[in-house]
Order: sequence, then structure tokens, then C-alpha cells
Amino acid sequence: MAELLEQASGKNWTLYNGDACEVVAGLPDESIGLSAFSPPFASLYVYSDSERDMGNCRSYEVFFEHFQFVVAELFRVTKPGRMACIHCFDIPTMKGRDGYLGCRDFSGDIIRAFQGAGWIMHSPRITIWKCPVVQMQRTKTICLLHKQIKKDSCVSRVGLPDYVVVMRKPGENPDKVSGEFEDWIGDESFEKRGSYSVSVWERYASPVWMDINPSRTLQYTTARDDKDERHICPLQLDVIERCLELWSNPGDVVLSPFAGIGSEGHCSLLRGRKFVGVELKPSYYRVAARNLAAAEAKAAESVRTLFDNENQDGGLVVTTTLTPATPAASQSRSYDQDIDSLESAIDAI
Ligand SMILES: C[S@@+](CC[C@H](N)C(=O)[O-])C[C@H]1O[C@@H](n2cnc3c(N)ncnc32)[C@H](O)[C@@H]1O
Repeated sequence: MAELLEQASGKNWTLYNGDACEVVAGLPDESIGLSAFSPPFASLYVYSDSERDMGNCRSYEVFFEHFQFVVAELFRVTKPGRMACIHCFDIPTMKGRDGYLGCRDFSGDIIRAFQGAGWIMHSPRITIWKCPVVQMQRTKTICLLHKQIKKDSCVSRVGLPDYVVVMRKPGENPDKVSGEFEDWIGDESFEKRGSYSVSVWERYASPVWMDINPSRTLQYTTARDDKDERHICPLQLDVIERCLELWSNPGDVVLSPFAGIGSEGHCSLLRGRKFVGVELKPSYYRVAARNLAAAEAKAAESVRTLFDNENQDGGLVVTTTLTPATPAASQSRSYDQDIDSLESAIDAI
């Protein structure tokens, strides 16, 4: 039986409190312009005691059995020629828990899961630099302790970077994503050399993003439950915004099946996209709904300011489309139809 706990929406967004497997199965075919999300990291973080929580899995292999349902549905709902951007990192193993010190190729297993569902690997993993000292302080792993170099350097390793895996659905993209870059997303290190758009592109096209501001994230503290075993890792807003700029158009519907506290939706709405999100954990869902409503209000305010300035300056043309429209999830079907289709999807499994 599908369990859709709640739903909230604004003019340009819909957020479901439910299981991504069930909710994405209820979305219309080829309605999504871009998916951008961080999946649960197998069993590294357990977000809740729900059996639907993908972090709450018996084993690494069982995580992928569950995740595979979402990957297949993402394929169906994505427009041809469009992307899924998956933020992840390779997962360190522990001697006590896994029997050996090392890493699991989580990014590789995600790529293989997507390829198995028909996706094409579009780009090598974009590598996001992370500070090894901060990781050492946070994780206390012996692999990153300087004293380990003196004892046996063969136990030492480098820090774990984040990755953005970019997968593409085969087919002809019906709406080209074209134009030039008009703003810079990233830290203070940017310098314009020659053309502004080319200078931005040179940095975005780099296979290693050294220029992401790690502290530009949404706040999560209010979303914490007493029962939380670990806390949520909100995705850096710079990473999301770059993916939106590179692989979606204003007006596109962006999907995050693991919406957390709403970071992907926040950026989507502020950049003139529509957003559909799914989050299982009620406390995160509630914070995400508040964050999405606030982002939509801010986006509307900046459009009003732009129009006021236009009136004063006399006739500036607005190029960003913030089309008032019903979110895609409810465009062609009602909430009840969604529930019906969620239920039949579950019956079919
Ligand atoms: C890595 S976090 C996402 C954080 C998000 N990118 C943000 O910035 O807030 C993964 C999220 O997936 C949620 N989750 C786990 N299993 C789920 C499921 N079956 N359906 C929907 N959400 C799920 C967790 O509760 C958690 O919030």
C-alpha cells in the first residue's frame, strides 16, 4: 500500500512527503527537464526508522535493489536528451563494520545502476575538492592522521572528494539549453579574463571544481529529530546552481526524489525553474516546504524589483521566464489520480 503522508505546493512547486519509489512512479512521462539530488549514502547515514528509508538498509547491495526502482522511474519521467545530476562520494569502509579499511566505489555503482536502466554516462565524474584536514577532524579516521605517516603510510589515503555524476537520457533534446553565462556561481576566486561568459565556462568546464563555497548551504538545524542517528548533509547551493545553469532552462521542471530540507528546490525556484520534490522524513519535509515557500516569495520579490527598475529606467527587456503555472505533477492529473497511480504501481511490484 502506498503511503503518501502529505503534500504541499506553491505556484511553481510541489513537495510530497512520501517514498520516492512510489511518488516518482506517479509523475507523468517525459515531464522532467532535470533531476538534481544527493541520494541516501547506502547505510552511511540512517535518516529515520522507516523501512522505506533507503539509508535504513540491511546491506550495501540491498540499498541498490531499492534505489534501482527510483532510477528506472527517473528514466521514464525525464525528457529525452536531458540529465540527472547525482551528487555523491565514495564511501569509506571500516574494519569493525566491513572487515577491511578502504572505500566502496559508490559513484561507480551509481553510474552502473543508471546505465542498467538505459541512461548514458554523459560526463566524467565532476570532482569537488574537499579539505582533508576538515575531513580528518570530522571523521577521526586513522587514514587521514599525520601520525599514521610515521607509523605505516600504507594505511594513509587522500581525502574523499565529492562528485557530481551526470547521466543523460538518450534521444533528441526537444528544448535546447542555449545562451551565455551572465553570472558567476562559486567562491571569491573568479576573475574575468576577456569575455565574461568564456571566463565562467572555463571554470565550469574544469573536471575538478576547486571553487565551490562549502559553507553556502541551507540551514538544517531545525529539521533535526531527537531520534536522528546522524544529521542531514545539505547539498552546497553552488553545486546545484551550476547544474541548473548548465543543464536546464528557466521554466523547466526540476525533480529531487530525495529533497531533504529543499536545497535543490530553493535554487530551482530562485533561478526561474519549477520544482517537484519528494522527502520521506516528516521533519525534513516540513522544513523543505517552508524553504520552498520562502524561495518562491523571494523569487517573486526580485521579479517585482526588476519590473520597478525597468519602469524607472524605461524599457529593459526581461529574459528570465518565471511563468506562473501549476507544478508539473498536478498539471495533467489530480492529487487523487496521483494516489491511485501510486497505489497501482505498488500493487504491481
Ligand atoms: C542526502 S539527503 C538529501 C539532502 C538534500 N540534498 C538537501 O540538501 O537537503 C537524502 C534524503 O533522502 C531521504 N530519503 C531516504 N529514503 C527516502 C525515500 N525512500 N524516499 C524519499 N526520500 C528518502 C532522507 O530522509 C534524506 O533527507
